Amino acid sequence: MADKPWSGRFAEGLDPTVEAFTESVSIDGRLYAEDIAGSIAHARMLARVGLLTADEAEAVVAGLRAIRTDIENGTFRFDPALEDVHMNIEVELTRRIGEPGKKLHTARSRNDQVATDLRLYVRQALDGVRHDLAELMRALVDKASQEVDTIVPGMTHLQFAQPVSFAHHLLAYFEMFARDEERVRDALVRVNISPLGAAALAGTPFPIDRGMTAEALGFSAPARNSMDAVADRDFAVEAVFVLSLTMQHLSRLAEEIIIWNAPFYGLVELPDAYTTGSSIMPQKKNPDVAELIRGKVGRVYGHLFGLLTMLKALPLTYNRDMQEDKLPVMDSLDTARACLTLMAGLVRGMRVKSDVARQALQKGFITATDIADYLAGKGVAFRDAHRITGEIVAMLVRQNRTIADLTLTELTGFSTAFAEDVFAFITPEASVDRRLSYGGTARPGVRAAIAEARQRLEGLTP
Ligand code: ARG
Repeated sequence: MADKPWSGRFAEGLDPTVEAFTESVSIDGRLYAEDIAGSIAHARMLARVGLLTADEAEAVVAGLRAIRTDIENGTFRFDPALEDVHMNIEVELTRRIGEPGKKLHTARSRNDQVATDLRLYVRQALDGVRHDLAELMRALVDKASQEVDTIVPGMTHLQFAQPVSFAHHLLAYFEMFARDEERVRDALVRVNISPLGAAALAGTPFPIDRGMTAEALGFSAPARNSMDAVADRDFAVEAVFVLSLTMQHLSRLAEEIIIWNAPFYGLVELPDAYTTGSSIMPQKKNPDVAELIRGKVGRVYGHLFGLLTMLKALPLTYNRDMQEDKLPVMDSLDTARACLTLMAGLVRGMRVKSDVARQALQKGFITATDIADYLAGKGVAFRDAHRITGEIVAMLVRQNRTIADLTLTELTGFSTAFAEDVFAFITPEASVDRRLSYGGTARPGVRAAIAEARQRLEGLTP
């Protein structure tokens, strides 16, 4: 085992339980590419300002690149005795190239280093989330464009409310994920700030160029305050919050898919590739993917609360508590990205049974509002129209009949305002297509919304 860089201060080694307790490389090893990118930028800057010779910087850059290749090939062994990814890479670099490796940490601390690495990691992963969100949005629009004419019962209180185009229902989710994508972009503005050069907390006496390293790493600017730079994890909390909201949206869609797929409902059939069987009940085809997406929301919410709590009341600046930031951030990103991808596949593969929807519309008095609207259109005050329609529904419930069974003679018994044209007025299709108000479910409006959604998707590509 290599000596720790700080071994000068200590006479004895670490207790093994303490070593196991304090190491973080088992988790932050995933930051190796960002750590190496940050070190390369730092080395080049040190050379520019005369703190490394050009040859030394070359040796550092070549050494770091070789280490990256070894890590990617799986031949690099991270040593938990060296705590974290930063020390593992630095110690190995020095073992390979000697003196220049020992100079790399000039004007730098692990405090600004780890903050830089995590920001680079979160930036890249959030770009991936934007991509995954766009793929899911595309799946929703594609499915919507196939289902404009599928009229389904729209629900409030999970009770039949008014008929809607199934495409309109799917596009409601498009809007949620569109807002999520917008939130990711907005969060990225605050993620993309460079802590590098803040050093331990106070800045450095060396003549470094923080603008140069910020630019080399694609950051928009160096962080303004060195203490804030090493102590701030707002960007991590914000990323996990954005993912929490995305997961919440996913959970609502997952829940609806589970309900639609339930035999009592039977509105959709899920693809075999996205369902599993039961070990005992031969007839089962379970919506496990949707259930797991719904279930994994808990992990991400938990990570959000874990992060907020870890940071609560921490005095400035860096505290070791903050090492606990990586797992929740990384796991939230992994979880949300997997769920987004799986949900896109589920949406694409789900078959909507329009015949089931048509039958369902016969039940539940779904066009009762339209009967009241019809009467109101004929001059009956809406409150009276509402009461009359309620009486009609009550009669149908007593007689175990549906709206489609009504005759004109019966209707005129309730109100003389009813005429033959009522029957065309209260079909589910007519009900849907009258809702031409902006954002409503009328099919021409839904088709326009689909075209607009496709254009918005075009505009998203980075
Ligand atoms: N492994 C540490 C972390 O993730 C890196 C920073 C350590 N800094 C320190 N002063 N101990 O937070």
